[in-house]
Amino acid sequence: MQFICSPGGRVSGDIRVPGDKSISHRSIILSSIAEGTSNVSGFLQGEDSLNTIKAFQQMGVSIERNQDQVSVCGVGLHGLKKPGSDLQMGNSGTAMRLLLGLLAGQSFDSRLIGDSSLSSRPMRRVIDPLQLMGASIESEPGGRAPLLIKASSGLKAIEYDMPVASAQVKSCLLLAGLYAHGETVVREPAPTRDHSERMLRGFGCEVSSQAGEIRLAENQVLLARDIEVPADISSAAFLMVAASIAADSEIRLTHVGINPTRTGVIDILKLMGADIELLNQRDIGGEPVADIKVRSAALSGIDIPAQLVPLAIDEFPILFIAAACADGVTRLSGAEELRVKESDRIQVMADGLAVLGIDAQTKPDGIVIRGGNPGGGVVESHGDHRIAMAFSIASLIASDEICINECANVNTSFPGFVELARQAGVRIKTNAG
Ligand code: S3P
Repeated sequence: MQFICSPGGRVSGDIRVPGDKSISHRSIILSSIAEGTSNVSGFLQGEDSLNTIKAFQQMGVSIERNQDQVSVCGVGLHGLKKPGSDLQMGNSGTAMRLLLGLLAGQSFDSRLIGDSSLSSRPMRRVIDPLQLMGASIESEPGGRAPLLIKASSGLKAIEYDMPVASAQVKSCLLLAGLYAHGETVVREPAPTRDHSERMLRGFGCEVSSQAGEIRLAENQVLLARDIEVPADISSAAFLMVAASIAADSEIRLTHVGINPTRTGVIDILKLMGADIELLNQRDIGGEPVADIKVRSAALSGIDIPAQLVPLAIDEFPILFIAAACADGVTRLSGAEELRVKESDRIQVMADGLAVLGIDAQTKPDGIVIRGGNPGGGVVESHGDHRIAMAFSIASLIASDEICINECANVNTSFPGFVELARQAGVRIKTNAG
């Protein structure tokens, strides 16, 4: 599918973007292994999180869904059944890495598969520590999926210093830790999203986090609870930048999760001069939520502070668009992780920006973007949902039409994006080609 975006437009309205992807995955995983029935509302009906539901159904969990309402009859920590076929993780690194941790502790064999993007992403970062815990996992050369997980004969807890700041690795090890003898300790080199820790506590588990060290006690039991999933700040980010760069715009994004491990995008945009206000801040089931008001503002290039990089890791495609429209130069470093996301986001963004006539110089761990006046052209998204959405937003101030190829994966994280973006004022349409 192709996006065709006509230049110009102003952005306005009250908009609730779909549910948080990270929290949606975790809500199904933890409810499935809890005792009792959990009701989830605001669930993301995207391909990634729907695959997670399917995987637990394959393992014998009764899960019913009505739109964004999901009811999960937990089977307890030891109640999952051997799936009759491979577990399909589609495009989702989160699903594959978190399920790998959970499956490493089960008494049955299983196999995780994914699409071509996921099958080329690094899994050693989770396989290596799981093997230290005693897990038996076979992968393709280079530690790639498909991954075959052998029945566990008991895991032992480890203390692990993560070489990369990754919430997926941390969460994988905490899930395996639920099945391990002893206390699991994970240390992170920089803060990463802490939804797993918060939700485990919500389910009654003993988890502490202090100074970058997360501890999970042994012999935990999860007790069912209801979960309200806030709107995804990573999806809201596209509209935050849209309202910032388009002239004469004002938008209110409602019920957005503003967990402090996710708000790097707001901090970075504010440093660039964005006009962003958090309204009606509240706590919903252990996660902070707010309405976010954004008005047009003149943006300036900045050096992105290193400590904000892991807190905005999924938002760089759209932040690069903000940088392309800003006055002056924006520099990013310490972001080599962007090269192993759904695509190589440094290279793919630089190539797309070059099509629009924006000067973007790549570095192994970042990029230097000189703001200017984006033109039009045909951009390759390489099937990366966030790249596709980012370039569609650039059309608001482009001088010519922008066509974006391979956009179907937008459905993995932001179903209904085209309709919502159009409602907000983006001149976007789709073409089956
Ligand atoms: C996620 C963690 C991040 C992020 C991904 C979702 C999660 O990946 O990029 O989209 O839900 O834990 P890393 O932890 O590998 O950086």
